[in-house]
Amino acid sequence: MEIRRAIAMSFIPIQEILAGKHEDQQVGVRGWIYRKRESKKTIFLWVRDATGVIQAIVKEGASAWKEAQEITIESSVALHGTVRKDDRAPGGYEIPTQKMSILGLAETFPITKDVSVEFLRNVRHLWLRSKKMNLIMRIRSEVLGLIHCFFRKRGFIEISPPMFITSACEGGSTLFSTKYFEGDLFLTQSAQLYSEVLIYSLEKVYTCAPSFRAEKSRTIRHLCEYWHVEPEWAFADMDDVMSIEEDLLNYVCHEIVEQCSQELQQLGVKAEKLLEVKKPFPRITYKEAIERLQKKGFDLEWGEDLGFDEEKELAEDFKGPFFVFDYPREIKAFYCKTYRDKPEIAMSVDMLVPKVGELTTGGAREDDKEKLIKRIEESDLRVEDYNWYIDLRKYGTVPHVGFGLGVERLLMWMLDLDNIIDAIPFPRTIRRFFP
Ligand code: 4AD
Ligand code: MG
Repeated sequence: MEIRRAIAMSFIPIQEILAGKHEDQQVGVRGWIYRKRESKKTIFLWVRDATGVIQAIVKEGASAWKEAQEITIESSVALHGTVRKDDRAPGGYEIPTQKMSILGLAETFPITKDVSVEFLRNVRHLWLRSKKMNLIMRIRSEVLGLIHCFFRKRGFIEISPPMFITSACEGGSTLFSTKYFEGDLFLTQSAQLYSEVLIYSLEKVYTCAPSFRAEKSRTIRHLCEYWHVEPEWAFADMDDVMSIEEDLLNYVCHEIVEQCSQELQQLGVKAEKLLEVKKPFPRITYKEAIERLQKKGFDLEWGEDLGFDEEKELAEDFKGPFFVFDYPREIKAFYCKTYRDKPEIAMSVDMLVPKVGELTTGGAREDDKEKLIKRIEESDLRVEDYNWYIDLRKYGTVPHVGFGLGVERLLMWMLDLDNIIDAIPFPRTIRRFFP
């Protein structure tokens, strides 16, 4: 009965109260007990809801005294009182509480001040209630919304790619295979090949969907399941790829400062870094990247791939995002288009940012049927697995481009996160897949 009544009554988001909109008014607040402090005749309860934390005060003799004594950290609660301004209270307002209902009395909450990071990762389902994760999840939602907005405004159609697939997009080494009735299939690494199908109908498409990578290396920037934004469009070239990537990053970084200024501030993220993102970004060729790294003492030859260490070092030369383009064909995927006069170079471009390294990979796709078949063979893939993909080059092939952006890498860079796992609610890594 109590619970039903508490849910039915009208309640005010705590943020509204802290904004001063309900001073001296009788309000109801619902949430969870964040902190509890007792003196002889007063109990101070910090109550959090989705929007903020406010102090509730219960005096001995008040009708809520018994509940206030009984209530524990993380219990859910509904309470009523008249809002009072008090500069000593966190947030500047408090609620002397007249009535309180315990909705769900919590057992002893395992997260206390001095638990280890490892422990917090093991109780992810409870740690997601923390202020930090609350803020990151809000910003994540906004960033995803902005990405959708960006592409839709530009006439890109969102398509829904399959998760079960039959053939690799990004090489076999990171494919997860999975039982599929009597046979086996894989989990998708990228929607790209399927998006290429749709450009013949819609011209400009994009996906925002999970990609799966069996990443055996434990790094701070790899997940086994991540959210991947992949636009693909026809009648475009490498310059168009870089230009739209600049516009996208510029849009997301500037808009997020508008939309989430409080959240960013509470997380300790400096808005300047995001506002400094401006078109055009510096562009260097892979060849120049190798030369820069050799000068810095790296033992690296033309033809070798850049790893996390190389990318981080390279990024030291630039304050913000920059492009590395024109990679050796051999270290890029089979679908990359090559230059007619430089067949050893792929029209492929990565965007890199400080501390995280690679944020995107994109480029032009091979649109010539014979060249594509040759590249599939050279990559030790079976041509028959790609028959449907090769068909696209048989019937009205067009020059086309696309790129892929890892949402968690973007968040990691924007929010200065130490590890990519905090950019997603339920991270999957080689060691971590629970809960
Ligand atoms: O560089 P990748 O492998 O490129 C592709 O998948 C292309 N098919 C994209 C395209 O052209 N449509 O992946 C693209 C991006 C990377 O730049 C990185 O941001 C992110 O996806 N990414 C990962 N993010 C987190 N964990 C991982 N294991 C990731 N692997 C790639
Ligand atoms: Mg890449």
